[in-house]
Amino acid sequence: MKTLEWENNKLKLIDQRKLPDELTYVYCDNYKDVIKAIKNMTVRGAPAIGVSAAFAMVLAYINDVDLNKAAKEIKDARPTAKNLFWAVDRVLNSKNPLDEAIKMYNEDMKINRLIGKYGAEIIDDGDTILTHCNAGALACVDYGTALGVIRAANEQNKNINVICDETRPRGQGASLSVWEMQQENIPVKLICDVASGYLMSQGMIDKVVIGADRIAKGGVVNKIGSFMVALAAKRFNIPFYVAAPYSTFDNEISIYDTKIEERSADEVTHYGKCRICPKGTEVINPAFDIVPNDLITGIITEKGIIDPL
Ligand code: MRU
Repeated sequence: MKTLEWENNKLKLIDQRKLPDELTYVYCDNYKDVIKAIKNMTVRGAPAIGVSAAFAMVLAYINDVDLNKAAKEIKDARPTAKNLFWAVDRVLNSKNPLDEAIKMYNEDMKINRLIGKYGAEIIDDGDTILTHCNAGALACVDYGTALGVIRAANEQNKNINVICDETRPRGQGASLSVWEMQQENIPVKLICDVASGYLMSQGMIDKVVIGADRIAKGGVVNKIGSFMVALAAKRFNIPFYVAAPYSTFDNEISIYDTKIEERSADEVTHYGKCRICPKGTEVINPAFDIVPNDLITGIITEKGIIDPL
């Protein structure tokens, strides 16, 4: 299963909004459709957004759109994940947009296997691993970063158990990570986000592995709630790892200069279509937070495990 595919000059995306109940696809034949799909989270997760953005540039090229104009619009789709900006610039500076996008697509799959290989070294037989949000196959072209580490450990026949944070407000842990683990028959349990500290205090979690949207000087930006998981892990001396490719790194800025996306209020006021608070309730809905370096044990990359920047 691939999260995205280039087919007959169209970008085919799994519609992640419909999972886990329906495995359906959205087809994009122009770059504006891809922008829409990134904005409405048909496709999400930093590496998947990056490769989709690369194919958005290809669609702009095929349809004779000015590439600088398209690049600017594509970069406006979501502000936080470094991979989006990295991918658009890489295609913009290439000689052949399609060749470059296909290269990036293939690289993403290779990189995730390497992250899995290096990451599996820190997983012991019998570990219970907590993950937050979805840094799985669905967040990449295939295999995943944090869930790639878990997949690789499982392929090595280590008996592991996975615990997925629900990941309010959009529930990527519940709807996507649990689903991915179940597809592979990897033992998985779902918890409410607020439960992880208690589980850690009871010795029920051995390691935490999450993904990243941007890694810069001073820390890692990832899905909202990552910071609180990291704080709790530190309290109980539980190793806290971040798994991410180098395309997520932004060596030039401080992590505190990252633009944190603010999403719409209805993601918080509603569970699906059901309103859970009085009408008109005001909301603060940051989509990401910052895990400072002192809470991070190591960063698992395609070149090995490194210290935070
Ligand atoms: O808002 P999302 O679903 O795009 O956020 C995704 C995450 O925060 C992931 O953990 C991150 O992109 C890493 S994906 C390999």
